[in-house]
Amino acid sequence: MPNQVKIFDTTLRDGEQSPGCSMNLAEKIEVARALETLGVDIIEAGFAVSSPGDFESVKTIAESVRNCTVASLCRCLEKDIDASVQALVNAANPRLHVFLATSDVHMKYKLRMTPEQVLERTDKMVRYARRFCEDVEFSAEDATRSDRAFLAKVVEIAINAGATTVNIPDTVGYTTPMEMRELIAYLRETVPDCDRAILSLHCHDDLGMAVANSVAGVKAGARQIECTVNGIGERAGNAALEEVVMALRTRADFYDAVTGIDTTKIYRTSRLLSNIIGQSIPRNKAVVGKNAFAHESGIHQHGVLAEKTTYEIMTPESIGVPKNSLVLGKHSGRHAFEQRLSELGYKIEPAELDKFFAKFKDLADKKKELTDGDLEAIVQSREYVENLFTLDTFAVNTGNGIRSSCALRLKKGEELLEDVSLGDGPVDAAFNAIDKITGIACQDGEKPELESYTIHSATDGKDALGEVVVKLRCRSAAKAKAEDEESDRLDLSSNTGEDDGVLVTGRGLSTDIIESSILAYLNAVNKLMSFK
Ligand code: KIV
Ligand code: ZN
Repeated sequence: MPNQVKIFDTTLRDGEQSPGCSMNLAEKIEVARALETLGVDIIEAGFAVSSPGDFESVKTIAESVRNCTVASLCRCLEKDIDASVQALVNAANPRLHVFLATSDVHMKYKLRMTPEQVLERTDKMVRYARRFCEDVEFSAEDATRSDRAFLAKVVEIAINAGATTVNIPDTVGYTTPMEMRELIAYLRETVPDCDRAILSLHCHDDLGMAVANSVAGVKAGARQIECTVNGIGERAGNAALEEVVMALRTRADFYDAVTGIDTTKIYRTSRLLSNIIGQSIPRNKAVVGKNAFAHESGIHQHGVLAEKTTYEIMTPESIGVPKNSLVLGKHSGRHAFEQRLSELGYKIEPAELDKFFAKFKDLADKKKELTDGDLEAIVQSREYVENLFTLDTFAVNTGNGIRSSCALRLKKGEELLEDVSLGDGPVDAAFNAIDKITGIACQDGEKPELESYTIHSATDGKDALGEVVVKLRCRSAAKAKAEDEESDRLDLSSNTGEDDGVLVTGRGLSTDIIESSILAYLNAVNKLMSFK
């Protein structure tokens, strides 16, 4: 029987803490639900003690997700474990994930602790965590740059103290597949009773090796992989879930391992995350990139037409890529629309279905026929915020040699608010009009900064849907310094230092790119307003 490898998803913790990937609570819940449907074994929902927002996210996700384990990260501090215990109180299957660094460089300069103190603290905190939870994971941060004999001692102590999973992170993406395989084999041979705990891997992608290192560890007996959707995460990111899962599946003959992932949900989960954080997926990205199944050269096309497996080692169907064939048109009714969405695997609440159907009708008026891709784009354009302002009408006047202007009317409840603005082009004019009408301002009284604006076609063809993604930042005063010395030393580097304020992502979808731009900017403004 093939070995079962658990998939531990840390998109909402290691992924979310990386720049440009932050999500609001509603977005995190949507991602958590998608991960549950995808079949991940463990969702790391956050780092409960790090902020009230993170605490709330862990708590709400723990309450919403029933079919997988929900984990919260903790440093080796009682107050971290206490916060996680509280946040996970209603979880169906809670896990406490405790970590402490074990490499010389981290112990000396970051922790300012001796190796003996690290051993002692590991023992004490794993035992403390076990008082509250049967499922405790211990991570030896920077394990791959740690002295091997010392690492083995830490692993032994963690297992004896009650850790049920021991994680071996390649925190800085330094190791190689061969080294990882040897390290896992070494630990399994050296640590007494090593098999009482599951050995896990957590690899970063600084040298582009995260996936290779993870699957190499599986070959040596690791039975959990920590990864993120689309590989988002600190610096160059974490091992990409979709790549790890498809590598194990496609080369099951070699790895002799299976996961519980429903691979047909991979594509959708990847798009969902990309839409929520406004980070597009590179065309040539393995498994989920647009080109992953496209055969351009004549020789390849000829081969694939004759026999798919000449150039295809996995099929688009296996990861759930929607078909581009035409499915619905202007005259299709609500029932046909709902039916097709359900065939695509979407279960939609009636109130939301009304909104999607209105968008569908609107789009069907502009495009004659709609594909599965269009339908997916509509569902994925879901907004995760209570909209204070919505678009009513707009008109732009633009050309060369004149300043562009935009006359805009927004709705705020029943109220209609309108204004006209000039700008360096129609998009700028429209954004200025939104600023004027909504009166959006940050804590410091300044207008939010437009950090990025991107546009791409969400579907194919001349009448494709144009999707705009904007990132708006509101700066605020620097965060107060960490209160206590010990917390500061044990802190995650990304949670100390200057506060960059709030960064929100807004998305807009329309066949008219000025309208997409207005919708995206308005979406971001509504999100900033909801933060206030
Ligand atoms: O990269 C790392 O070492 C981590 C640990 C906290 C598991 O994210
Ligand atoms: Zn990490």
